[in-house]
Amino acid sequence: MSRERLRAVRDRVRSFPDFPVPGVLFRDISPLLKDPVAFKALIDLLEEHLRASFPKVDVIAGLDSRGFLIGPPLAQRLGVGFVLIRKKGKLPGPTESISYALEYGKAELEIQSDAVEAGQKVVVVDDLLATGGTMRAACELLARLKADILECLVVIELKGLRGAAKLEAIPFHSLLQYD
Ligand code: PRP
Ligand code: ADE
Ligand code: MG
Repeated sequence: MSRERLRAVRDRVRSFPDFPVPGVLFRDISPLLKDPVAFKALIDLLEEHLRASFPKVDVIAGLDSRGFLIGPPLAQRLGVGFVLIRKKGKLPGPTESISYALEYGKAELEIQSDAVEAGQKVVVVDDLLATGGTMRAACELLARLKADILECLVVIELKGLRGAAKLEAIPFHSLLQYD
């Protein structure tokens, strides 16, 4: 039952106050990754959500680095490819890049210019949405490549930071919500 699997996932997210800077309550997915039953439940739930929502997905795009833990197993389940959206300076060849702000700092994201073809149907995956700055920047990169963004999908949404609003009209879904 999906409520029980959701509970198994939620039970394996722990919280650390004042990390990495004072005032931030850090939601740590390490116990979830370490527990094979809970990790499988997570990927099952994400797969079921995508299969129920979209008849066709061409590509899963994951965000450096925690999105790389969730995107590839999900892409394998769906039988589609996985594309990297990385922090600056890690990808060879022609790239698109964009700078952005996040809950506790600033960074720059890149995608290889040939990572997706125009019109491909992409789901963007990350572990967590806080201010939405990272996800928004990733969507801007994909839009430059003329991808068709079906949805931004995260495990954890920090509702209080109103990150989903930053995505405006881009569809968004989270498995777990925290205030
Ligand atoms: C964290 C998290 C999200 C992002 C969310 O990544 O994994 O990607 O912050 O924050 P935002 O919604 O305010 O942009 P982080 O940049 O800390 O790096 P990591 O994934 O490499 O740990
Ligand atoms: N990324 C941005 N804010 C975060 C938080 N509060 N916990 C874990 N990852 C984060
Ligand atoms: Mg991240």
